[in-house]
Amino acid sequence: MTSRDEILNLFRTCPDPYISGQKISHLLNISRAAVWKQVKVLRESGFEIEAKHSLGYRLLAAPDLLLAVDIENGLNSRLIGQTVVAFTDTDSTNVQARQLAEAGAIEGTVVVADRQSAGRGRLGRRWESPSGVNLYCSILLHPQIPVQQAPQLTFLSAVAVAETLEKVCHLSVEVKWPNDILVNGAKISGLLNEMNAETDQIHFVILGVGVNLNMLEEQFPEAINYPATSVLLETGKPVDRLMFLRTFLRCLDQYYAEFLQEGFTPIRQRWESYCDMINRQVRVDQGSRSLSGTVIGLDPEGALRLQLDNGKVERILAGDVIPVTEKKDQE
Ligand code: BTN
Repeated sequence: MTSRDEILNLFRTCPDPYISGQKISHLLNISRAAVWKQVKVLRESGFEIEAKHSLGYRLLAAPDLLLAVDIENGLNSRLIGQTVVAFTDTDSTNVQARQLAEAGAIEGTVVVADRQSAGRGRLGRRWESPSGVNLYCSILLHPQIPVQQAPQLTFLSAVAVAETLEKVCHLSVEVKWPNDILVNGAKISGLLNEMNAETDQIHFVILGVGVNLNMLEEQFPEAINYPATSVLLETGKPVDRLMFLRTFLRCLDQYYAEFLQEGFTPIRQRWESYCDMINRQVRVDQGSRSLSGTVIGLDPEGALRLQLDNGKVERILAGDVIPVTEKKDQE
């Protein structure tokens, strides 16, 4: 933790409203001049800090920043978010998480960024990542599961994002196979999970999560080829990014623990409950070939089960699923 983060930590945890420069200097083992310098840095980053003669410093307001100390503090998760690495600006949190994993970072390490200059989407696409408005994070996992089960983790993160959007933003959410979260038919979140493995052993998995929170209409790229939205556009209200992220990490932590203990079934059932395409006639575009049929659900490994018009059930491992009819009522 930097001295700046340690001072913030003291402001957040100290039971008294004011904390003296002398006390901070003593607790952090830094000079009074260094305390003053860090307070100045905090003010320059947008923190409102009152300084009162004989009482000390008091934190009045904090900007909407995602700081490691604020994410970690009192998170009370079992595994996820025990260590947080926060960037103001980075290329891609997935790239940074991979580097940390290769350097031996612990399971549950979270990488978050205020802005990404090379945010990555599925199929080599770009993920628009302007500063200060959205959530861009990657979570490092070391699951001891067979390699072929790794795709199941995408559904785990999808369920955690969907539940957080419902809980924190009161939105009605839908999941789209394999890795999209939609609100009113428009994409609000995308997931990019990457794995490092040998034939029979997973070294690590990175769950990359992007959620459009406070993004404005004009911040979406013009050339985007699917309808996209943000929480702000849907509800008219800005979301507290820190609160959203902390709720998401706790939710993911719980579901990951459940997944390790009970396997994929509970996650699969939850994901299916958010999936509007079950029982619907769809077209699956797989580059050179296109299939049509009715979506039945997920198989135990996370492949999409599609009943073709001739009755045969096909396992879909990749492709874009496009609905062609309205939802049928379940019998
Ligand atoms: C998609 O729907 O195409 C996946 C988008 C995933 C975006 C997130 S943002 C955080 C993480 N870092 C990246 O570079 N990509 C993922």
